[in-house]
Amino acid sequence: MSDAVQFLRAWIADPIRLGSITPSSSALAALITSEITPQTTPVVELGPGTGVFTKALLARGVPPDRLLLVEREAKFAAMLRERFPGVGVLAMDATDLGRAELFGGEPVKAVVSGLPFLSMPTRAIMGVLDGCFAHMSRDGSFYQFTYGARCPVPRAVLERLGLKSARVGRTFSNFPPATVYRFRRRPMRRLYAVQGDGQPRP
Ligand SMILES: C[S@@+](CC[C@H](N)C(=O)[O-])C[C@H]1O[C@@H](n2cnc3c(N)ncnc32)[C@H](O)[C@@H]1O
Repeated sequence: MSDAVQFLRAWIADPIRLGSITPSSSALAALITSEITPQTTPVVELGPGTGVFTKALLARGVPPDRLLLVEREAKFAAMLRERFPGVGVLAMDATDLGRAELFGGEPVKAVVSGLPFLSMPTRAIMGVLDGCFAHMSRDGSFYQFTYGARCPVPRAVLERLGLKSARVGRTFSNFPPATVYRFRRRPMRRLYAVQGDGQPRP
């Protein structure tokens, strides 16, 4: 069965969870993985579906044992295990990631997400980001695409989690056209104590 047909079947069964009627294009896969290198590992991929982004991550030099896929749909998870030997696959809900043990506790450098943020409640989006950043290195990046016209994470959620967003780019070679965003932790503010002479002391 082709990936498009598998995807369509899964979409018919649960359109909200899938969030898209077809797998992403190779152009969107190239855009969302464009900042990933063998140095930005380990990498976690959320909602890989049929593995379009997984293929691009491996092509960018991510070693299979430095990549972990998190997919809630059991049929996709089984297919990914078969298709990408050596790559770890967790068949679970990405909102529970905060409680999972990843890469033996080694900080994750990047998360690439294919989750349908536009059809997810704000609470679930917050759970995913909070759980992922709990595993992430200080300079780690979280990549997310959206079909929407603006950032898929509400400003209040970014503020609450101490994150900043940046637009990585947009591709029209996808149905529908999509924009990729990167989320990182805001730099820590330095705290100053004031000395007796009124001068700030770091
Ligand atoms: C829009 S599809 C993207 C699939 C693939 N990344 C692509 O771009 O073609 C969303 C994927 O996220 C998965 N998914 C949705 N909610 C999830 C959740 N809470 N935890 C893990 N996977 C989830 C779906 O099963 C589906 O495979």
